[in-house]
Amino acid sequence: MLFQDIKKSKGELDIMDEKTTILFVTSNSGKLNEAKLALNPFGLNIESFHFNEEFPEIEEIQSSELRHVAKDKLRKAVTIVKNSSNKLGVMVEDAGFFIEEFDGFPGVYSSYIHKTLGIEGIIKTLTGIKNRDACFKCVIGIHLDGEEFFFEGECKGRVSEIALGTNGFGYDPIFIPNEGNGRTFAEMNSKEKQKFSHRGKAIESLRAYLHERNQSPTSNQCSGS
Ligand code: IMP
Repeated sequence: MLFQDIKKSKGELDIMDEKTTILFVTSNSGKLNEAKLALNPFGLNIESFHFNEEFPEIEEIQSSELRHVAKDKLRKAVTIVKNSSNKLGVMVEDAGFFIEEFDGFPGVYSSYIHKTLGIEGIIKTLTGIKNRDACFKCVIGIHLDGEEFFFEGECKGRVSEIALGTNGFGYDPIFIPNEGNGRTFAEMNSKEKQKFSHRGKAIESLRAYLHERNQSPTSNQCSGS
């Protein structure tokens, strides 16, 4: 286990809890729940930043690269969170759905296209087209002790003929990952989706990195024992 075996002496409890907490700056509850599911078992708390009137959302830059968007989002997130020094880190994520036949579109525009065209619109646009290959990609950015780190994940699959399943969010009902017995993400429970998904992979790289960092003799992360 990651941070669970840290010994907590009386009075240190709250500080230690904060030091195993990552503040995830997102307004997407689907992303938040998936991050919690993946990281909580390793003793890492995921807390969401509560957007308010002053900061209703992080405005994304226009870029064809998820990594650039994530980098910019992370800088903005760190600024709006202001005092996060009591936390392990501040995290953001940028993801997109890339359809091969459309040269990767909607990609970085996935959120907008989902809101406007919707998943039924995507299915219609692909009518009569043989190549239904698509993939999800995501980049997680985390700010730890004044430094930025990025972790990427990708999941290949295809667009289904019809929307199937009620779980998940976004494009989940029309995406069939190559692994997963021909079911859409929305037909899987969160644990199954996590095994194959772009987010699951990026989070696993982040978890492995945090684990390694915590083991390092020079690390001052979570060294409260
Ligand atoms: P953004 O990362 O907030 O810019 O969102 C990109 C958009 O991609 C989201 O609004 C969703 O519509 C879609 N998306 C990202 N990740 C997933 C996923 O795991 N399943 C389904 N749709 C997703």
